[in-house]
Amino acid sequence: MNSNRFKRQLVTAALPYANGPLHIGHLAGCYLPADIYVRYLRSKGEEVAFVCGSDEHGVAITIKARKEGIEPRQVVDRYHAQMRDSFAAFGIDFDIYGRTTDALHAETAQSFFKTLYDKGGFIEKTSEQYFDPEAQQFLADRYITGTCPVCSFERAYGDQCENCGSSLSPNDLINPKSALSGATPELRPTLNWYLPLDAMAPKIRSYIESRSGWKPTVIGQCRSWLDSGDGLQARSMTRDMDWGVPVPLPEAEGKVLYVWFDAPIGYISATRRLFPTDWERWWKDPETRLVHFIGKDNIVFHCIIFPGMLMEHGDYIVPDQVPANEFLNLEGDKISTSRNWAVWLHEYLEEFPDNQDALRYTLCASAPESKDNDFTWKDFQARNNNELVAVFGNFVNRVSVLIRSNFDGVVPALPAHPTERDAALFEVMETAGVQIGQSIEQYRFREALSVLMDLARAGNKYLAEEEPWKQLKTQPSRAAEVLGMGAVISAALAQWSAPFLPFAAARLRQAWGLEVWSWGEVARRAKTEVPGIRIDDPGLLFQKIDDAAIEAQKTKLDRRKAEMEAATAVDSAPSATLDFAPPKPAISFDDFGKMDLRVGRVLSAERVPKTDKLLKLEVDLGYERRTVVSGIAQHFEPEQLVGKSVTVLANLAPRTIKGIESQGMLLFAEDASGRLHLLEGEGGARPGSAIG
Ligand code: MF3
Ligand code: ZN
Repeated sequence: MNSNRFKRQLVTAALPYANGPLHIGHLAGCYLPADIYVRYLRSKGEEVAFVCGSDEHGVAITIKARKEGIEPRQVVDRYHAQMRDSFAAFGIDFDIYGRTTDALHAETAQSFFKTLYDKGGFIEKTSEQYFDPEAQQFLADRYITGTCPVCSFERAYGDQCENCGSSLSPNDLINPKSALSGATPELRPTLNWYLPLDAMAPKIRSYIESRSGWKPTVIGQCRSWLDSGDGLQARSMTRDMDWGVPVPLPEAEGKVLYVWFDAPIGYISATRRLFPTDWERWWKDPETRLVHFIGKDNIVFHCIIFPGMLMEHGDYIVPDQVPANEFLNLEGDKISTSRNWAVWLHEYLEEFPDNQDALRYTLCASAPESKDNDFTWKDFQARNNNELVAVFGNFVNRVSVLIRSNFDGVVPALPAHPTERDAALFEVMETAGVQIGQSIEQYRFREALSVLMDLARAGNKYLAEEEPWKQLKTQPSRAAEVLGMGAVISAALAQWSAPFLPFAAARLRQAWGLEVWSWGEVARRAKTEVPGIRIDDPGLLFQKIDDAAIEAQKTKLDRRKAEMEAATAVDSAPSATLDFAPPKPAISFDDFGKMDLRVGRVLSAERVPKTDKLLKLEVDLGYERRTVVSGIAQHFEPEQLVGKSVTVLANLAPRTIKGIESQGMLLFAEDASGRLHLLEGEGGARPGSAIG
């Protein structure tokens, strides 16, 4: 390995956007492999820093805030805290988890920008951008809607039509409208600062070509960017918006740094937070190795744009390794936050308390290292029950129980004259430590984990062949030797499993009174130090997961899928029927009495984004407020409803539609042409009045 020329490693994991909770795809994509890598390096005694934080700028955040009717600041505060806690709960052991709204970050990003600017590293260019004359601001692509030139869908976005999938630019839209105010935007000239990636291409190319040991998928993506038809193009590093790091130039008022300019500098600012006085040796000393763990959608930014920025700046080292993973799917479908198709980490923690290792194990064992991979609950259960519980847990448990019940908990001595089988087992142990390390250093975490499990398997097989539980009666001195051997292997597992299964490893080490050993000394120390120690009961290291728990998860996913489909169905159902609806069968008075019908007053109404037919309403029921999603957007303008009295079925079980919990149903009259009408009373019935 060429890693010898480095003195220390700075390991980063992509800063997740603070606009939603974390799911298993995040963990499998970069945080878990990064954590395993770092834990391993630490156990070798290497100097390493592990840096991450929340990515709190960009349009992703402002869109989320608008959707919820709150400030971007509130969005990032909420998700920053939630993500930080989820990472901690899963043992993702960052040295620092920073955030890009940190003042030190703004200063770091601005001074970086200023250095490039002073060097003439940017091209200034005026272009025509859409401006909202009512909201008095330029519009990000996502904030412009209009008719798709390809399929005539009327609510296409400035960057994409969600109906036909065409990728668009705002100027393609027919009849563009501002999503902020509904006004027709006008093109206005605006000045921005571009990184001339085209001019930088030769430098970037030779940087890429000089890397060794990069994954073929990563190199492949880089080459295709470099070789694409029109090559790399100058890219604007500034944006006309107000959420972000202000561009540090007097002539750039109202402009912020492009989120992909500021976010990777977040790695630098987080390092500054961590090491306020000597952060520079982590970024400016060529003996520091910089390693970025990311998902494949981030490759161009980490392999082309960020290195380009760093080289242009001149003071910084460049990434040495970018071990990007492919994507993880869930039960055959792409994980999607907006469709709520995910296993959320905070939910997992509630449903499988104290079982983080099981998820870490499954996600590492089936990590999308070289191609996309699928997470299924069945596979999760099988890996947990058949591997963690039946192999690793069972082996350690048998050794531990037999020693405690027959030897007073004191680990017996090793064989004075090892048999061939004894020697073979130790051989497996010694090579395992080396192989696991080598695989981790090559970012092959699945392989590393399977070598670890093979060691546990070898231990199990050894016990099955020696049968110490029988020898205890027939040949107790041999039983003692065998259990001594088993304890040594268990101790090695306690050390080498720590990067993958930190919770179980710590529990075992603690019960057995073992310190953390340096990786390369594990085999030796296990053999010399374990015999003779007194061991406590570590309890069961892993818990069996039963069918009911797995069924519950699958049912939950089925329900989500149904909700998704229902929401789409409401969205696209034909709205007009020419006849009256057919009468329904008779119901009992009791059935009728179960319905809690109330007068409600509409406090606010807005369209549910990306839908045709849905409105989200806040309704005052007098005694409480409800959020209701209703498929009426083609019948009423939101403004038309505000202040109106409506009939509410108040005790309909809540359901989630497009991610919004709808807490009731609004009732309308439908006429023969399918048009809906409000059931406005005489006026006067106050909100909350029962109807019956
Ligand atoms: N927030 C980005 C994402 O989730 C990743 C940013 S990585 C950084 O895709 F380098 F910019 F920090
Ligand atoms: Zn279209």
